[in-house]
Amino acid sequence: MSRTSLTRYLIEEQHAGRINADLRQLIAVVGRACTNISIAVSKGALGGVLGDAGTGNVQGEAQKKLDVISNEILLEANAWGGHLAACASEEMDHCQPVPDTYPRGDFLLLFDPLDGSSNIDVNVSVGTIFSVLRSPAGTEQPTDASFLQPGTAQIAAGYCIYGPSTQMVLTTGHGTHSFTLDRETGEFVLTQRGMQIPEDTQEFAINMSNQRHWEAPMQGYVQDLLAGKEGARGKNFNMRWIASMVADVHRILTRGGIFIYPWDKKDPGKAGKLRLMYEANPMGLLVEQAGGAATTGRERILDIQPDQLHQRVPVFLGSRNEVAEATRYHREHDAQA
Ligand code: AHG
Ligand code: MN
Ligand code: MN
Repeated sequence: MSRTSLTRYLIEEQHAGRINADLRQLIAVVGRACTNISIAVSKGALGGVLGDAGTGNVQGEAQKKLDVISNEILLEANAWGGHLAACASEEMDHCQPVPDTYPRGDFLLLFDPLDGSSNIDVNVSVGTIFSVLRSPAGTEQPTDASFLQPGTAQIAAGYCIYGPSTQMVLTTGHGTHSFTLDRETGEFVLTQRGMQIPEDTQEFAINMSNQRHWEAPMQGYVQDLLAGKEGARGKNFNMRWIASMVADVHRILTRGGIFIYPWDKKDPGKAGKLRLMYEANPMGLLVEQAGGAATTGRERILDIQPDQLHQRVPVFLGSRNEVAEATRYHREHDAQA
């Protein structure tokens, strides 16, 4: 059977009228940038790319060399294609419009250039997450405000995971599909069409070290998971936490599960740890397109109207019935309050 490359998949989607030529080119460029990031990541210590960059990002987080390298690869690859109006990144204070010297297109690209930075130096999977929006009609010079659109407005979303193999998982709103990088030809090859997350699960992913900082409904929910067969849920649960959202979500898209990064009172001013525009929205769309669900514990993530580019949110995503269950604990708690 002949292989379907990412290029061919995108051309077929264009012929079927589901995407236009600009979006096809944009995704192809992101794919090439991710291939280059994959090469840089896989060099490890031999490439001199490990360790801290010695700088901080807008959110006060220390940047790794690979955070900075990946950000530059994505910016450079996307500057001159003619399909983009501006980029916004977890690693940049403000959005960066395409320079006046280059042709400007209609799309806005958002990315977390390297997700799971804390895992780089220990040789554990990391990834790139991206989201595509349309520039609001009549926008000549995009600003940060042009990006403040709910997740339902995403035209496409995806991630690339740099693990034992490099894979791109993509949606343009017609299912979630997975492509594996053939390192010999440099081509992404379609390896799973229409990923489907099982509706039920017996596996959860959470950083348990924060337990004492959670609010009451979270305490109750996880207590019932841990009680297993003898408890209210009547079944045993297993736990996994990689601390790279890309890798945890990839496992959930592959075999089900629930991923949670809830609000906690370690830093009560922060709504959560994960970022709405670069992490929660693209992952939310990918998961919904694979039959799963994504909420803040109270509302659907994709319905949130953002008010800041670097806004944070609590995240509950994965197997649909389990996300509904976790959300129920929060809603019932709120109703009694
Ligand atoms: P990033 O490396 O882009 O800052 O994201 C890290 C995120 C996410 O990938 C992961 O799920 C989470 O942080 C891990 O947080 P803890 O270290 O608190 O477990
Ligand atoms: Mn991240
Ligand atoms: Mn990151």
